[in-house]
Amino acid sequence: VVDAFLDEVRGRLGPQGVVTDPDVLRTHSVDWTGRWAGRTPAVLRPAGTAEVAEVVRSARRHAVALVPQGGRTGLVGGSVPLRGEVLVDLRRLDRLDPVDAAAGQVTVGAGVTLQRLQDHVAAAGWAFGVDIGARGTATLGGMVATNAGGNHVVRYGSMRHQVLGLEAVLGTGEVLAANLAGLVKDNTGFDLAGLLCGSEGTLGIVTAARLALVAPVAEAATALVGYRTIGDAVAAAATLRRAPDLHALELVLGPGLDLVAAHQQAPVPLAPTPPAALLVEVASSRAGSDLAAQLAAAVAGGPEPAGAAVATTAPDRARLWGWREAHPEVAAGLGIVHKADVTLPAAATARFLDEVPALVERCAPGATTLLYGHLGDGNLHVNVVGPDPDDDGPIDAVLDLVLALDGSVSAEHGIGTAKVAWLERQRGAVAVSAMAAVRRALDPDGVLNPAVLTPRT
Ligand code: FAD
Ligand code: MLT
Ligand code: ZN
Repeated sequence: VVDAFLDEVRGRLGPQGVVTDPDVLRTHSVDWTGRWAGRTPAVLRPAGTAEVAEVVRSARRHAVALVPQGGRTGLVGGSVPLRGEVLVDLRRLDRLDPVDAAAGQVTVGAGVTLQRLQDHVAAAGWAFGVDIGARGTATLGGMVATNAGGNHVVRYGSMRHQVLGLEAVLGTGEVLAANLAGLVKDNTGFDLAGLLCGSEGTLGIVTAARLALVAPVAEAATALVGYRTIGDAVAAAATLRRAPDLHALELVLGPGLDLVAAHQQAPVPLAPTPPAALLVEVASSRAGSDLAAQLAAAVAGGPEPAGAAVATTAPDRARLWGWREAHPEVAAGLGIVHKADVTLPAAATARFLDEVPALVERCAPGATTLLYGHLGDGNLHVNVVGPDPDDDGPIDAVLDLVLALDGSVSAEHGIGTAKVAWLERQRGAVAVSAMAAVRRALDPDGVLNPAVLTPRT
């Protein structure tokens, strides 16, 4: 069956559109985490929307399942062929249109990386509202599919809030063009572009997106502020959420800072290493606002800090950001990482941070727990290293606690295959059956990502 499908696709896409080289297949069958790996008979490389549509229609005819793939930086096992699916690598969809300066918008192909988009719009005097550490590899198609969040959600929202329009090939094989003109107001029925944001490749393959841009930063001040206790850092965050021009509000803890210091072979910029620190950034599109003074005043409104390192130039700010952004890589360097990406209500955050290390220790004695996250949004990342790759016990215990505290079991990474068992407990049976019904309507034969979100049998 698969051979007939691949022959048909080869006929439409040409030989360069169907890759079966075993080395390439192996590389594409494992993701950034190293924890999720599968097997595939082929990687398809369509060069445009029409070719993606050919692939999906052919897959329907031959009853072959597909997994759309961008940069493979997703962290919930959604981009790899765990059931032997054929992979669709979207990176050749690399259209990058000139910035529409009148609208402050741009249209981009699904395969464009975030870094490339950022450089492109910066050269035209604009900025993009979403930034994540995987910017060099993550694609805009993958970011739409996962509704990526990242560092500036406190200011601009997540991917969903930047997407004005989308082009996608639905599971039916039809091409959906939803508001590619980028109209800001368009109340003509369902928001179909919005529906695809966070759909994790289960409803359609995103081929292009019409994105809103934001004014570039003219002046910014970034500080790494230490606190004597985790509770003080959480209390400070409550004050700092109200800071004018807040651009980022991130949490790191002492053990994480020490690991990054060892990794970077550089001393932590706060000595001695504090138990907790906030990376706070204020930024304005207007120059001459003395943001460093504003930032100092905002910090002074909270609990007394245990030291602070402040940066106002771009290279110094990037160096401070390094103390936060190196955390995922440093965790990965310790071994296979078990990840929870959760949101807590503000009032429950301190209790959660206090209880998690002991909870993990009870489930997996001797394991290393690294906590960090986008505290401004109540989004914490729990990383556990030590348990066997298949041992979900510690993360399950953490997610039980999240539900008991009225939080969310996925803040920004999605459900993928890793968190499927948690979807109904989080959202309830009615919501899950509504999602499954939408899925059946847009992908009647179950060709797209069958193992993801609401698995197809
Ligand atoms: P992939 O990993 O290839 O795919 C992710 C999912 O989207 C899969 O289910 C896949 O099937 C589907 N998909 C991919 N392309 C398409 C398409 N064109 N159409 C339909 N479905 C598609 N995430 C955050 O939200 N915030 C962060 O701060 C953040 N930081 C990160 C830092 C690091 C170091 C790493 C490694 C990851 C980080 N991530 C973060 C996670 C990841 O980068 C995002 O989930 C990103 O959106 C994935 O993009 P990708 O192109 O790599 O998608
Ligand atoms: C981050 O914020 O660093 C990312 O979401 C990656 C991670 O959770 O490790
Ligand atoms: Zn994150």
